Amino acid sequence: IDLTLLNTFGLQCTARYFVSIQKAEQLKALLELDFLQKETKLVLGGGSNLLFTKNIFDGLVIKNEIKGIEILKENDDHCWLKVGAGEGWHDFVLYCVKQQLGGVENLSLIPGSVGAAPMQNIGAYGAEVKDTIESVTAFEFEKGTFRDFPNQECAFGYRESYFKNEGKNRYFITHVCFKLSKRNHIIKTEYGAIKEFLTKMNINELSLKAVSDAVIAIRQSKLPDPAKIGNAGSFFKNPTITLEQYEILKQKHAAMPMFAVDALHVKVPAAWLIEQSGWKGKTFDKVGVHTQQALVLVNYGHGKGKDILELATKIQANVESNFGIKLNMEVNIV
Ligand code: EPU
Repeated sequence: IDLTLLNTFGLQCTARYFVSIQKAEQLKALLELDFLQKETKLVLGGGSNLLFTKNIFDGLVIKNEIKGIEILKENDDHCWLKVGAGEGWHDFVLYCVKQQLGGVENLSLIPGSVGAAPMQNIGAYGAEVKDTIESVTAFEFEKGTFRDFPNQECAFGYRESYFKNEGKNRYFITHVCFKLSKRNHIIKTEYGAIKEFLTKMNINELSLKAVSDAVIAIRQSKLPDPAKIGNAGSFFKNPTITLEQYEILKQKHAAMPMFAVDALHVKVPAAWLIEQSGWKGKTFDKVGVHTQQALVLVNYGHGKGKDILELATKIQANVESNFGIKLNMEVNIV
């Protein structure tokens, strides 16, 4: 099957085997098929964090289409929802906003599926999904069994989780259980862009809907819509460096922004490093660096995954030679 429409970069790639899973139990039956057991597996959600670098994926692609939102329990303060990992992430956020459940409103309009959210601990505008996740249910390919991972076992970090590291390619996330707030929810508006937007629009009364709308508007103004221009959001992670290294760099680059991580470390926006290195808005044949956000690499049409990877590698080398900072890729290279 052709995967072009199943990845947001819009890259042409053909899977040797392809199945779509609607119910978790189907996974057991699938893996009982001998000939599939040894195939390399790729779990596909919304395909929004993937870069296919070859024309063929010589293995089994399993598309996650497990749907459903179920209220597990609730009390006066919280509501626990069990959500099928194949639900679209933004649809789930809109559901929560509508039901007055707080916790994920800052994560509006992030492309991808609910199951992909814990994989890379999606984060934006001052919030990270890990703070709302109670547990993750996953099917382990090798054992053929289901397992619940409570939040602490997911090893969440900035754009990191157990499933992206030691657990890579070993599990199929079937459901995510969220704990959301019904009252006393602290709405996060510290992120500069949100504050500016609310002031500009004259919004004084804070609500989940107001913040969600603000995030949607901000994202739409900066980030390319994957339906129009192929992309996978931020291509690189924001690097963490020591405060000491930052102080030295700052002597030469006075305007270098940073966000404090802890007493000894800071995070520097990769977009700034890339823009200062002259890459923002550059186009090379069919691929390039987005005009509004230097952290986003784009496919303008019939670009190839290897062209995007080549561009990313050049940017990495150039930023490292200019600033001595190594950028790590956030996107999953297949
Ligand atoms: N900046 C530039 N040039 C640019 C864009 C940004 O110099 O072209 C500098 C500015 O100094 C700006 C700073 O970078 O103040 C931060 O920019 P922005 O608020 O756009 O956030 P970011 O650090 O570039 C991160 C996430 C985004 C998330 C935003 C908002 C990562 C890798 N990316 O980007 O996540 O939406 O913050 O919270 O942490 C994604 O993961 O796909 C994604 C889009």
